[in-house]
Amino acid sequence: MILVIYAHPYPKHSRASRRLADAVRDLPGLVMHSLYDRYPDFDIDIAAEQAALTKAKLVVWLHPVYWYSTPGLLKHWLDKVFAYGWAYGPGGVALRDKHCLWVPTTGGDEADYRATGMHEQPFESFAAPLKETARFCGMQWEPPLPLHGAHTITDTALDDAAQIFRARLMAFSALHVEQSPPTASRSGTPS
Ligand SMILES: Cc1cc2nc3c(=O)[nH]c(=O)nc-3n(C[C@H](O)[C@H](O)[C@H](O)COP(=O)(O)O)c2cc1C
Repeated sequence: MILVIYAHPYPKHSRASRRLADAVRDLPGLVMHSLYDRYPDFDIDIAAEQAALTKAKLVVWLHPVYWYSTPGLLKHWLDKVFAYGWAYGPGGVALRDKHCLWVPTTGGDEADYRATGMHEQPFESFAAPLKETARFCGMQWEPPLPLHGAHTITDTALDDAAQIFRARLMAFSALHVEQSPPTASRSGTPS
């Protein structure tokens, strides 16, 4: 039901996004694809990624922000997997109505992403390429869950953020879990 696309070039050296990934990877119905582990040579198995997406109701993009964007392999994944005739264009309805949650980690803290801050723009403005990609493919963009100040955040605050992420995914599952139809009750009196 939930597909987490985790894109960290050095997953073993990550602190922030790895903690977030570790907080959710055991959730029932969740599949995680660590792109740099799966495709170190960037040779993406498009059919396998599309099959995983087809099964998902929620697609999570979890990654560190690099130059206001995604790490290169996540961009490449989008280029290859969100294909014409599959994700968009004639007959391209595979992603329609799926939900999309962006979970970026940033070195900059919240103050850096203000008009007066180092990055001069609100962080939401950097969501535009991903948000519009999702929208263009008919996906529903969920309110993002950014983690700022990844270098300075305390272990306790990072644990709290990880638990908030976990709770968010659990809430999604609880809301969208498919109810199996109730078993028909027998009518009439036993003979
Ligand atoms: C190549 C590169 C580019 C980066 N660009 C940004 C950026 O544009 N904005 C920002 O806030 N942090 C930037 N950072 C900091 C990363 O977002 C930060 O190191 C990461 O979120 C930490 O998460 P991790 O512990 O999972 O690696 C950059 C880091 C690198 C290595």
